[in-house]
This record gives sequence, C-alpha cells and structure tokens, in this order.
Amino acid sequence: MDVNYVKYSDDVEVKQPNEDEDSKAVVESMSRVNKIMFERYRHAIRDAHAKNHGILRGELEIYDNLPEHLAQGLFSNAKTYPVIIRFSSAPGMIETDKKSTQRGMAIKIIGVEGEKFLPEEKDALTQDLLLVNYPIIPTGTIKDYLDQQKKIEEYIDTPELFQSFQQTMLVAGRKVKNLLGKESDPNDFGKPGSHLLGDRYFSMAAVRYGDYIAKISIAPKSDNVAALHGKKMDEEKIKDDPDNFLTNIVKEFFATQTAIYELSAQLCTDIEKMPVEDGSVQWMEEDSPYQPIAKLTILSQDSYSPQRRVFADDVLSFNPFHCLPEHRPLGNIMRVRRLVYEASSSYRHRMNAQPRIEPTHIEQLPD
Ligand code: HEM
Repeated sequence: MDVNYVKYSDDVEVKQPNEDEDSKAVVESMSRVNKIMFERYRHAIRDAHAKNHGILRGELEIYDNLPEHLAQGLFSNAKTYPVIIRFSSAPGMIETDKKSTQRGMAIKIIGVEGEKFLPEEKDALTQDLLLVNYPIIPTGTIKDYLDQQKKIEEYIDTPELFQSFQQTMLVAGRKVKNLLGKESDPNDFGKPGSHLLGDRYFSMAAVRYGDYIAKISIAPKSDNVAALHGKKMDEEKIKDDPDNFLTNIVKEFFATQTAIYELSAQLCTDIEKMPVEDGSVQWMEEDSPYQPIAKLTILSQDSYSPQRRVFADDVLSFNPFHCLPEHRPLGNIMRVRRLVYEASSSYRHRMNAQPRIEPTHIEQLPD
C-alpha cells in the first residue's frame, strides 16, 4: 500500500503569537528556580531531569536496507555507533524516587560525521536523542509550558502542591492512548510501580526526519527488558531504599545482564492530525505506526560509579539541538528548548567550575 508521508519544508513550523516574550519568560523563570536549587544544594543541577538513575555505555546499530522513507539523515547508512545513555527523573530538583513523575532516557550518539545544526557546535561529533516515558508532552506549546513553569516557581517550597497541580492538569487534559490502543489513566503514568527499564520512551514532540517529519521512540526488545514492560517495580527494592531505589534497580540489573532496545520512527502522514506546533496531540499508531530503524545494545557494566555520575551530571550536556540539520527539533515547544538547555547547561558548568565537553570518543566516559 502506498503511504503519503508528509514532506518536510521550512513552512511546517509556524511562529506563534507572543512566542518571543513567552520564551523569554520561560527562560527567566527556569533560571530563577535553578539559582534557588543551587543555593539549596550548593551545587548546580539541571533545570529539568536533575536526578540521574544510571549512566550506561551502549551501541546503536542502524539497520541495513531500510526503505527510502526510513533511510534518512543518520539512518541512511547501516553503521554502528557508541552511545552514552543517562536515565533520569523529570523534576529540576533531587526528589525521592517514591514520587510519581516522568522519567527520561537521554542518548548521546558519538562519532556522527557531518556539520551539526548549532553553528557554535558545527564540528561536534554527536547526535543526541532525548526521550521520556510518555508519548506526548501535556504542555505542548510554549504558552502551556509557561503556565506550568509559573506554578513550579510559585510552589518551589511545596513540591507536593505542584505535584497535585500536575496530576489535575493531566487528568483534565487529553486522554492518552497507550500503544495497545487502550485508554490509559493519566493518574497512573510514571508511578514508582512501572519499571523504568521496561518502559517505552518517546521524543514526545516532532523532529525533522530528513525529507520527512517524525516522532522517535525506543522500546524494550530483548526478553529480559520486554518482560519488565508494564511491570511494577520490586516492592522489596523500594522498601530497601525508598528514596533511591531507581538507581539501585538499574545498577543491579546491569551488574549481570545485557539489554537490547529498538529505536523506531513514526512518520507524519497528515499534518492536521499529526501537528508539529502542539506536542500535546498524540500521533495515533493507526494513522502511522512506529517503524524500526536501529537496535541499541547495552552490555552488563557498572551504571553508577562515582566517576561516571560526576561526568554525566556535571560535565556532559544532552540537548535535542545537538543534532544533524536533518534531525532538527520542530515546533514551538522545541524552539524554546534551544534557549533553555543552553541556559541550564552554561549556568551548571559555570557554577560547578566544570568544563563543557562534547565527547569525540566513547573512551571519555569513565568506567
Ligand atoms: C518535548 C519533549 C521533551 C523531552 C522528550 C525532554 C526530555 C529531556 C530529557 C530526557 C532530559 C535529560 C537530559 C540529560 O539526561 O541530561 C531533559 C533535560 C532538560 N529539559 Fe527537557 N524534554 C522535553 C521538553 C522540554 C521543555 C519544553 C523544556 C523547557 C522549556 C525542557 C527543559 C529541559 C532542561 C532545562 C533540561 C536540562 C538541560 C541541562 O542542564 O543540560 N525540556 N529533557
């Protein structure tokens, strides 16, 4: 069956009313919160996804013989790249793992040739993928994100109030269909119950995919991680260390096991139903399925050595704009990220007096 994939062109992006002012307000509010966090910990942390649950070395193998619509940009050649992966929890503060929150899986692909999107990093050899265990970003526009950010700032000393606000917003918001086509209850998402190594992770918003437009996802593939999909976290492990069990679970898993995940792309087939300017709209799999493009293998290793934690938290920066122009993020919620990731990373590096290093070799990741 012939499918009409929507072709990328610069006019798929549409600047929003008041976008510059709203973006500036987001950056300023996040920076204020970040300074408060610095004083709280006397150490600078990320404005978002501050708590790290494991840093892993892996290998991403781009599949051979992909059809034309998938053989785009980085995925146009079958090649294997080393990667660094950082698992995290979404808040811009260090919280107990018992709290329901979204989790992140950031992947830095190393050794990627070609001029990069950011002029100041055009010679970098990295392409980053930032993924979260939820298919959409409920605050899918800068305007919505700004409203949320104002609440974060307002509730800075009462995070439980912010959490209840977030929960209410999700329930009020659009119902998200999970990948089996069932309606999922936003109250359930990311609870400590769902195993972070069995979750699916998504770009949530759109990126350019060479000649096309896509959302990106990664899913468990080897039996050991596939078996964890939708499974609750081990109660005993939660009881052993209620505040930090996520880090322990990742560490114990990779002490002995290898995991395989599969990366896929969901191409836009209808710009009305699958918009780029609102990341809260779910692109339905019946309109366009996720199609496999690469395999990620993670061998057993120590996921949380002190050297690794410091390198990943304080030296590295994952940023969706660390990318080839063929994979540049799209839409207003992505455009604001160009400003906030830079602000967050430069403040963190300056206050911790750490170098900002974009790796050129996997050997730079300490064991
Ligand atoms: C659209 C979907 C989004 C996804 C999938 C996503 C995912 C992620 C992930 C996985 C990380 C952790 C990176 C790491 O391990 O270092 C991260 C960090 C971060 N995110 Fe997002 N995010 C999204 C949207 C946003 C938005 C809309 C904002 C703010 C307007 C934002 C602000 C940040 C900041 C400031 C950091 C820390 C950057 C640093 O200090 O290096 N994100 N994000």
